[in-house]
Order: sequence, then structure tokens, then C-alpha cells
Amino acid sequence: MALKLLVLSSFIPCVFALVRPNDVGRLPALGWNSWNAYHCDVSEDKILQAANYVVSLGLKDVGYEYINIDDCWSVQSGRNTTTQQIIPNATTFPDGISGTADQVHALGLKIGIYSSAGTETCAGYPASIGYEDVDAATFAAWGIDYLKYDNCNVPSNWTDTCVSCVPDYYTQALNQNGSCAGEPSLCPSGYNYSTSHTATRYQLMRDALLAQNRTILYSLCDWGQADVESWGNATGNSWRMSDDISPTFDRILAILNENSFQLDATDFWGHNDADMLEVGNGITPAETRSHFALWAAMKSPLIIGTDLSGVSDADVAVLRNSYLLAFNQDGEVGAPATPYKWGVNPDYTFNASFPAEYWSGESSNGTLVLVGNWLSETVAKVANFSEIPGLQAGGTYQVVDVWAGSSLGCVQNGVQVNVEANDTAVYLVQEGCGSVIHKRHT
Ligand code: GAL
Repeated sequence: MALKLLVLSSFIPCVFALVRPNDVGRLPALGWNSWNAYHCDVSEDKILQAANYVVSLGLKDVGYEYINIDDCWSVQSGRNTTTQQIIPNATTFPDGISGTADQVHALGLKIGIYSSAGTETCAGYPASIGYEDVDAATFAAWGIDYLKYDNCNVPSNWTDTCVSCVPDYYTQALNQNGSCAGEPSLCPSGYNYSTSHTATRYQLMRDALLAQNRTILYSLCDWGQADVESWGNATGNSWRMSDDISPTFDRILAILNENSFQLDATDFWGHNDADMLEVGNGITPAETRSHFALWAAMKSPLIIGTDLSGVSDADVAVLRNSYLLAFNQDGEVGAPATPYKWGVNPDYTFNASFPAEYWSGESSNGTLVLVGNWLSETVAKVANFSEIPGLQAGGTYQVVDVWAGSSLGCVQNGVQVNVEANDTAVYLVQEGCGSVIHKRHT
């Protein structure tokens, strides 16, 4: 009986989650997207090149499956006046989106597209508000498997009269106690954001997608507005929780900081999206390790955003790290890793430059432990078992170095490591040396 309850509880989705056929959206999405690599300079050639590299670099083999077209894929001047459909740009997509989709599908991969819950996309192309049904039907007919739905160009009758506290990257407009400073027109406490105009705009497209005879993963991109963490789970499969990423470590740390306070919203069927990866886009090897490890540990969708024709072997190795992918894609534990200690700052300090450095998360294969260093010189650090949830003080555990892919053997008390500036040491701590791991999530 106890076993049955245990098994059931790990597979019952949250009541409010958007549960889709064939487990679509149950785990964070893995894939590639055109925006961080090419911005508006996107084409069928580039999409197919990326898809082919996902196969030849072995990324498909380790689970990356969605090849996503971002903004700027259509004719800018307007819709087809008869069908009301958005018209693919025939110069850049000579086979139409359906032709591109066929070729991506032929590689055993899935394809994504992009629109906005406004009159135009962020780059000024026709978007879907008022056209949700025709666009969802068109995407389904083209063979689309994933929709990223942005938040630009919201008409005035759809704007909200009050806003939630979205901590701003530059002003860090969030106090240490979690309240927002300096935001105009904050909604009253207790306001139900699922009734906001923002939520309604996203719910309209959800309903249009659900009416199609095709499962299209629904990725909300409202940049954390209108407290999306409180309704995203009932609306989509993932939701962006911040402004855009850029290929700079200070931006990566700022998003890490924001998400570290929102991780209760992530579990099976619904994931905070910390934005697409900048691996390969000029960040250093240490920054690459930190970025990828923490995005995987937070159970963010992992969407590669670089030109794969020029990607280094070292970056591919990071993207293929089997321990981190296994944690991100764990079929038995849905909860993400969370901070167990902040490090530079006192615990629970909201600080974009010095977010939490010490993280841990339970998995079906042991406890993942991450130790970052956000200072500008190498620091000697300790992952002390007595501080890590589920581990025993003074205990002895089997420890695997996730970057080296090798075991450190039985380790007592904790792991000592010199972490270079902006790097993150990652360990998988397992039973097998006498001490037990007390599980919370399975
Ligand atoms: C932003 C979005 C980016 C990208 C861009 C396209 O709003 O956050 O990820 O999609 O629009 O114009």
C-alpha cells in the first residue's frame, strides 16, 4: 500500500497543470531556436542546417528534439486577405513553413514556430491576437509541434490596469523581503492574476491550440509579467520568468537570481523558462559550465541558441553532459534544484550580481550538488553534507564529479574544491558508502 501511494504520488500531475497527450510538456523541452544565433536573419536553410547539426553532433541522441523558428519568418505587410492566414516569407522559406516542417520531421525531430499575443511580433510581423483560431489551425496544418508565444504590441484594450512586481534587471526593484519597490500601479495584494488581460490573452491561444487535432507544446513568453508563475501552469507547458537573456554573465546571474525565488512554480507539466541558452555565443568556458548546469538544475527548458556550424567540441560536451541532462529530464522527480545557501550574501538576499552559489536537488539517481563562484578570483569552497537537504551531517557518500564524469569514491563530511571565477563545480552524491539520503520528492 505504501509503495502504491508512493508510486502514484510521483506520477499524479498538479491538479491545475496543462496535461498533454504522449507526455508532451511533462519534462522541460530540449531543443534549438534561431533567435539568439540569428535574430531576424532566419531562413529555411539555417533551420535545416541547425536540424542537421543537432543530429550529427549527437544532440538528438541525448534528447534535443525541437527545432524552433523564432521571429521574422513571415511576410511583414499583412495576412492573406482571403484566408486570414499569416503568409510565410517565400524568399527565406521557399518551401513554406510546412515544407520546412516536413524536412525537420524527416530527420526525426520536431518543429516550433513563434507568434505574439499582440497585433504584431516584437520585430513587427503579423501576430495572433484576434486570430488565435486561424493561426492555431494553420500551425497545426503545417505540422507545427511547439509554439513560442510572445508579448509584444498589446493593443490598448488588452493592457492591464495594474501590474505585478517584475524585478528589473537594472534597478533590481525587489526588496529583500520580496516586495516590489518603485513599480507604478501594483495590483492589490490578493489580486487573482489568472483573470488579468495578460493571462486571458495567453488563455485564448491555449484554447485555440487545444482545439486542434495535433499536440503543440505551448511556450509562454510574457517575460514574467502578471505573475505568470501563478497561472502559467494551467495555461502552458512553460513560461518565461524574466526579460531577455543576452550573452553576458551578468545577465545570466541576474536571471538566476530572479528564478531562485520562483522555483516553487516548477514541477512536472510546467516549467519556469529561464530563457534560451547562450552556450557558444562568446561566454567563457567557466561561464558556459555555470550557465548550462544551473539552467539544467532549475529544470528550465534547454533550448540551444547558437550557430551549430561553429560550435566548439567543449561546448558540445557541456550541452551533452549526461548527468545534467538526466537531472533535467528525470522521470521520477519533477522538482528543480534550489539554493541551500547563498554564499556571498546572507541567505534569501535578492541580488542580481551575487545570487545563491550553493544549490542542491534530489533526483532518482542521487542528490545533485552545485557550487558556484561569482567572485572574480578562484575561491576554495566546501559542499558540506551537513548543510545539504537530505544528506547526513558527517555522512559518507559516493561522489561523482559531473564535469569529469568520474567518481571521487567514498567521501566523508563534504567535498572541498577550488572553484575558479564564474565557474560551477557539480557533483552527484549517491548512497553506497554507508550513509543514506532522506528523500522528500519520491
Ligand atoms: C522577445 C523574446 C525573445 C525573441 C524576440 C523576438 O520578446 O523574449 O526571446 O523571441 O522577442 O523578437
